Amino acid sequence: MNILSIIAAAAENNALGKDNDLLWHLPDDFKRFKSLTSGHKIIMGRKTFESFPKPLPNRTHIIITRDKNYKVKHEDCIVVHSLEEALNLVKGDPLSFIIGGGEIYKLGLEFANQIELTRVHGTFEGDTFFPEFDNDKWQLTKEEYHPKDKRHKYDFTYLTYTKNQ
Ligand SMILES: NC(=O)c1ccc[n+]([C@@H]2O[C@H](COP(=O)([O-])OP(=O)(O)OC[C@H]3O[C@@H](n4cnc5c(N)ncnc54)[C@H](OP(=O)(O)O)[C@@H]3O)[C@@H](O)[C@H]2O)c1
Repeated sequence: MNILSIIAAAAENNALGKDNDLLWHLPDDFKRFKSLTSGHKIIMGRKTFESFPKPLPNRTHIIITRDKNYKVKHEDCIVVHSLEEALNLVKGDPLSFIIGGGEIYKLGLEFANQIELTRVHGTFEGDTFFPEFDNDKWQLTKEEYHPKDKRHKYDFTYLTYTKNQ
């Protein structure tokens, strides 16, 4: 079965970001994001794409926008105008990712069969939130706690959920 994975880091109140930026700096979570997503297609909303200083290396970016004139001149970037169009581009791939933000996670939950959620232990003031998901539809299959330390201001837990068949 092909895996379409939603990957996100969300606070306990589901906050994801503010002012088109993240709310924390967690290098080990970044490292994990890089190692999981490298070599795969990553689907994102136009705002998330614009929150990066430049495209992420070694990943094909599929950027969703309603703007028919939106262009990105970079060989690793494809612009599409709906989630359906994005999903068509990954349908033959054994593993691909939906990397955000809030609007695209909300649309993507119905189609994804895995969630890689980093739960950051704290409550944050945000303007973008991870959507509520139905616990009856998803099963927690893996859990790994990462304590705070001198490089990580907050503790967090990597949670892997698999959608029930
Ligand atoms: N913590 C995390 O894991 C994480 C991950 C990713 C992002 N973030 C944060 O999330 C925030 C950005 O998220 P966001 O929810 O504001 O924006 P977003 O989901 O990244 O992008 C929203 C944009 O996607 C396009 N879009 C949405 N629905 C569409 C549809 N049905 N058809 C076509 N295009 C559609 C629109 O682009 P146009 O306006 O161009 O039409 C819309 O403005 C930032 O703060 C970022 O740092 C956090």
